[in-house]
Amino acid sequence: MKKTQLRIGIIGINGRGTLWRYWHQPQGKSIVAGAADVYPMYLDMFREVCNRDAFVTTDYRELIARPDIDAIAVTTPDYCHEEHAVAALNAGKPVYCEKPMAITIQGCDRMLGQAKSAGRQLLIGFNMRYMDFVRKMKAMVDDGAIGEVKAVWIRHFVGRGSEYYFHDWHALKQNCTSLLLQKGSHDIDVMHYVTGRYTTRVAAFGGLDFFGGDRPNELTCATCEEREDCLESQHERLSAKKPLRHYCPFRREVDIEDNYVSILELHGGIKATYMECHFAPDHHRNYTFIGTEGRIENSQLENKLYYWKRTRERQKAPDEIVDFAKVKDKGDGELGHGGADARITDAFVDMVLKDEPPPIPPVAGRMSVAVGVKAQQSLEAHGQPMDIATPDDAGQQPPS
Ligand SMILES: NC(=O)c1ccc[n+]([C@@H]2O[C@H](COP(=O)([O-])OP(=O)(O)OC[C@H]3O[C@@H](n4cnc5c(N)ncnc54)[C@H](O)[C@@H]3O)[C@@H](O)[C@H]2O)c1
Repeated sequence: MKKTQLRIGIIGINGRGTLWRYWHQPQGKSIVAGAADVYPMYLDMFREVCNRDAFVTTDYRELIARPDIDAIAVTTPDYCHEEHAVAALNAGKPVYCEKPMAITIQGCDRMLGQAKSAGRQLLIGFNMRYMDFVRKMKAMVDDGAIGEVKAVWIRHFVGRGSEYYFHDWHALKQNCTSLLLQKGSHDIDVMHYVTGRYTTRVAAFGGLDFFGGDRPNELTCATCEEREDCLESQHERLSAKKPLRHYCPFRREVDIEDNYVSILELHGGIKATYMECHFAPDHHRNYTFIGTEGRIENSQLENKLYYWKRTRERQKAPDEIVDFAKVKDKGDGELGHGGADARITDAFVDMVLKDEPPPIPPVAGRMSVAVGVKAQQSLEAHGQPMDIATPDDAGQQPPS
């Protein structure tokens, strides 16, 4: 008999692991029946607020080996994704793996290979594909509203960048490769998804222009004498939820870039730019797609999409403005991503229960990582362009 309720185990239960909020539906299609984490306090918190009966362990191998766990979610730091996902797939479990898929191209290829040989689904957490404005952009491009896409310009303003990336493990290259790969993995994927084309070539410049410095590695916001005046200080934001994200963003060990500019070419000759800055005062992503017949652009701050159609005249105003009503978050707003988290977690459950292929091809995760890796190589080679090979079975075929 087919299962009607999926039993999910989560590796990395704090932070993004609190996606359990969507998956734990005792009267619904899934429950979170287990968790693994290296910090017992996070496992205790999880049992307290989610499921007192859940199996918990500090050794993820015990979780994936359990026959009463049907599927695994990997929400650990980027540098753990490959190990955890490969092991879970090898144990015969379908896997939800957070973005970025891995921190190397080879790591992604090992994950793809394991999913194939185990015959298990692998869904990468590209929740932006489930955002209203991204769906609308994709539908408009597919419907031919802007003709053939020729240019993509993306600006990513990471406001309070230190809060997300410079107080903890994200600030070290060895953990992420680059923040263009880490944070930008969503944007690169949206570009690939909306155009239906993968990147073939990238060149990038970047630097550590604001964060980093000579403060001791062990300096924390809570103990810093400048905590009252420092704009980056987390001392008032430390909570039981994020007790460990508190090291000084101006500490010595910080080596990851905080400012990127990249140019890209996609199959079909599409020209693109992607920019990401981690010390912007505001926080949003701005995408423009220009085609032979028009242009679309989103404003994440206004929650709107602007459509300009090419005519004989120079246009003075958009032809259409799409105003997205705010989608109510389920639970903590911080996790909602405009409803996208509820949709992607639901899609994962349906994929497993119905035994269907992943709604996002896992190779898309690999292609996004490939851009990040090659952009970093280019940056380190003073902007030298780098070619990116597309695997034969990647699915998005370049036009002849
Ligand atoms: N799709 C999205 O919108 C989105 C949003 C946030 C984070 N993420 C991704 O989620 C992942 C986690 O990010 P985060 O911000 O939650 O990080 P985090 O550091 O806040 O949480 C990571 C969790 O994994 C645990 N952990 C660390 N090492 C472990 C190990 N070896 N074994 C088991 N557990 C381990 C930590 O204790 C913690 O509970 C990242 O890859 C990030 O890119 C995705």
